[in-house]
Amino acid sequence: MEYLERRRDRVEERLEEVVEAVEPTELQKQLRHVALSGGKRVRPMVTLLVCEALDGNEDLALDYAVGVELVHNASLVVDDVIDDSDLRRGTPAAWAQFGYGPAIVASDGLLGEAFELFSTDERAMQAVAESMVNLGEGEASELVDRPDDETEYMQLARRKTGALFRAAAELGAIAADADAYTVEAFGQYAERVGGAFQMRDDVLDAT
Ligand code: IPE
Ligand code: MG
Repeated sequence: MEYLERRRDRVEERLEEVVEAVEPTELQKQLRHVALSGGKRVRPMVTLLVCEALDGNEDLALDYAVGVELVHNASLVVDDVIDDSDLRRGTPAAWAQFGYGPAIVASDGLLGEAFELFSTDERAMQAVAESMVNLGEGEASELVDRPDDETEYMQLARRKTGALFRAAAELGAIAADADAYTVEAFGQYAERVGGAFQMRDDVLDAT
């Protein structure tokens, strides 16, 4: 447990640095509310642990890890608007706290900060872009109709949650300068973990 805690602390510290540098103050306040109010930090941990498993550059992995968490947080802000859900991580959802307009701006701000962290590496950019295409497709298809069989459900879970887990793992491997086969192998593993994670989340919601 302590093994994970140390890494979670590093993610938390770097996240704070990134948010602290944001201007103007109003936007910084909103990003702080969204990004620094708890959260398990599961995805960034995946990035760090994959990089460590491959003996890679941990500082680079930390930036990618924080970037993934920011993308995740941006998607939560939009998710709470879509679901009309006014509580997130035990505090008011961004829209409930600041209004719809500022919430959308905050979501864009989070994505901007994230992409700045990925922008040094083309492979990193590609991995994240691909996952966001999937994320968007997942959210969009869920808006128009709910899945009504297992195949559709699994496809939705893979897009909505598996994709970002995949990117998290791929980024860890990319930070370790791994070959394409290794990046794909870790990505595939994490995508399935993400699918399982979503199933668990849905069961918790239902029960
Ligand atoms: C919640 O993600 C939304 C899903 C995709 C299941 P998390 O359960 O990782 O939420 P936080 O980051 O810990 O708040
Ligand atoms: Mg949830």
